[in-house]
Amino acid sequence: MSNDIFKTLSSISEDIKFFNISNTEELEKFRIQYLGSKNVINALFGEIKNVENNRKKEFGQVLNALKEEAESKFETEKEKIEDNQGAGKSLDIDLTAPVFYDSVGSRHPVSIIMNKIIKIFEKIGFTVAEEREIETDWYNFTAMNTPEDHPARDMQDTFYLKDSHTDLLRTHTSSVQARIMTTQKPPIRIIAPGRVYRNETISSRSHCQFHQVEGLYIDKNVSFSDMKQTLLYFAREMYGLETEIRLRPSYFPFTEPSAEMDVYWGLKNEDDYRITKGTGWLEILGCGMVDPNVLSNCGIDPEEYTGFAFGMGIERQAMLQYKITDIRQLFENDIRFLKQFSGAL
Ligand code: DAH
Repeated sequence: MSNDIFKTLSSISEDIKFFNISNTEELEKFRIQYLGSKNVINALFGEIKNVENNRKKEFGQVLNALKEEAESKFETEKEKIEDNQGAGKSLDIDLTAPVFYDSVGSRHPVSIIMNKIIKIFEKIGFTVAEEREIETDWYNFTAMNTPEDHPARDMQDTFYLKDSHTDLLRTHTSSVQARIMTTQKPPIRIIAPGRVYRNETISSRSHCQFHQVEGLYIDKNVSFSDMKQTLLYFAREMYGLETEIRLRPSYFPFTEPSAEMDVYWGLKNEDDYRITKGTGWLEILGCGMVDPNVLSNCGIDPEEYTGFAFGMGIERQAMLQYKITDIRQLFENDIRFLKQFSGAL
């Protein structure tokens, strides 16, 4: 008989040892079972009458040991739980669960297009040059062959800084050309991405701030056909390997001759008719051979060096690519709009 009781005691001891306590509810269950007023250990004290006399003492000792075992387990587990709660943790957390990044940001469509353009030109040896947005009149206009009384200054409505007739918000990234040419010696091969400003009425089609990427290549014997080939490569990387381009004569004060480049977009649907005004061609950028006056303004000998330059707007390309119909969406930073671009680089 007493053998059975001793067996029960040892199985209770096992139960205590392996009782899993990882939160306050389990701790309370343990307490009720082994330390509460109706706990299983106390109940066993009543069984002492069924134990042979010569083992009664041993029985009492084992029961007491069990009681101590339960008490000490209760105390250590209680401490552990309190420590974890103090650190703001709950032991209910599943540390092996996968992590959900539900608030990771996304790249802005303007940055996506800008990065794409940068990568295309970096592949053929252009390096990125970044310069200031607050410029002087000289770098933005004068150096770029647009002196004060030049009518071309009217082409770009300028924000001048308060109380200053010389400091302005750059109206184009062409100012970076002058910054680079006055500080570096040819060969020069740079692209300059950045923000520009013009005092224009804000509408669905134009904004007072936007982004451009400028390009400049100066070396000995740089020709118009070098420019055409470079821009054809760009158009095909950007718009597909079958893309056709055309160069139309144009005017910019800082290039001679000047051109505008169109890519053939096609006339597959009504949208194409609308955005290409029924021609199938889309204007993407302005370009030309750097005017000799610009080179000499910046201290480069036009007898020795020639070069080409180009400049393109980013917003329009982003709008075409993502079928965005209102330029203002690119500046409002509405999270519902921006979220749609998550995952793009
Ligand atoms: N700066 C011109 C603009 O803002 C764009 C441009 C045209 C840049 C011809 C150039 C160029 O470098 O060669 O409209």
